[in-house]
Amino acid sequence: MEYTTLGRTGLKVSVAGLGCGGNSKLGLGTGHDKAHAVGIVQRALDLGVNLIDTAQYYGTEAAVGAAIHGRARDSIVISTKHKVSLIDGTVFSVAEILAGLDRSLRALGTDHVDVFCLHTVLPQEYERVLTEVVPPLLREKEKGKFRFLGITEFAGRDPRHDMLARALEDDCWDVMMVAFHMLNQNARQRVFPATQQKNIGTLLMFAVRAIFSVAGRLQDDITELAAAGRVPKWLAEKKNPLDFLLHDQGARNIIEAAYRYARHEPGANVVLFGTGNPDHIEPNIKAILQPPLPAADRQKIAELFGALEGVGLDEIIAKR
Ligand SMILES: NC(=O)c1ccc[n+]([C@@H]2O[C@H](COP(=O)([O-])OP(=O)(O)OC[C@H]3O[C@@H](n4cnc5c(N)ncnc54)[C@H](OP(=O)(O)O)[C@@H]3O)[C@@H](O)[C@H]2O)c1
Repeated sequence: MEYTTLGRTGLKVSVAGLGCGGNSKLGLGTGHDKAHAVGIVQRALDLGVNLIDTAQYYGTEAAVGAAIHGRARDSIVISTKHKVSLIDGTVFSVAEILAGLDRSLRALGTDHVDVFCLHTVLPQEYERVLTEVVPPLLREKEKGKFRFLGITEFAGRDPRHDMLARALEDDCWDVMMVAFHMLNQNARQRVFPATQQKNIGTLLMFAVRAIFSVAGRLQDDITELAAAGRVPKWLAEKKNPLDFLLHDQGARNIIEAAYRYARHEPGANVVLFGTGNPDHIEPNIKAILQPPLPAADRQKIAELFGALEGVGLDEIIAKR
């Protein structure tokens, strides 16, 4: 494993972080039981992953808690989150968010988390979050319940990173979770210059998601993009539109390419990978530890897809 510093938190974190959400939710999202989920976390920890990202909303905190039980607490960096609202219109009060933090600590079996994030904050919610939620949360931080404050964006509904762009004007955020992948590169202009300048830690999500993992999905999306004139038509004529990445000096498969691509983006600290399949843990870590894709391949990805926005940011990973 390789370790890096999570921005101004100073935390030493593995460049590959285990995401306990997404569709997989450590396997709980795909019909597996808690013991399976615990095994996924333990395997990742045994392979040197020390950053675990969970959330109350995912229902995976108890599995993370069971997996870390008996391990040195200071050897593991735990990030968890609480929503400020739900898409059905429910808005969580400050009291509910603070109670949620306490519930997370109980589920995780710890007296503190390293990073506590406000989860999927929309641009229109940001001012309430800043003025009403952050001050009382920071008082909980003073009590030692969490060490650093983070915020995550709602990628599918905020594809231009408007919320993070606004949040970057404030100084309270130590960590930001950012959507970035080969066909969704606009954080390069809109987020990473400022996170680097302010030394805010970054956790990258959506590196693979559905677009690179569900069979046929990339071809479908490329076909739609080509029909709309957003990518060249020749790409849609290929069975594997990204096959130019697969060669001796390049990637062995598209998932490897996708994780490698995200990991080496300037401004990326940690690439989160979400899985419920124990067989995917080691290859994903190996992919994230590979060197950058060859410069010519990266340039081609920038030329072909650099202008795209809002691609591959599914809320739910539907099978075809
Ligand atoms: N706004 C937010 O706060 C937010 C939103 C999204 C994600 N996140 C965080 O970011 C993490 C990562 O996002 P993500 O879950 O979408 O992860 P991801 O790594 O981009 O994609 C995971 C998907 O790819 C599949 N996959 C992973 N490795 C594979 C492999 N080697 N071969 C084939 N398929 C593979 C997984 O299925 P298998 O289970 O079959 O491996 C899963 O469906 C989440 O777990 C969560 O912690 C946060």
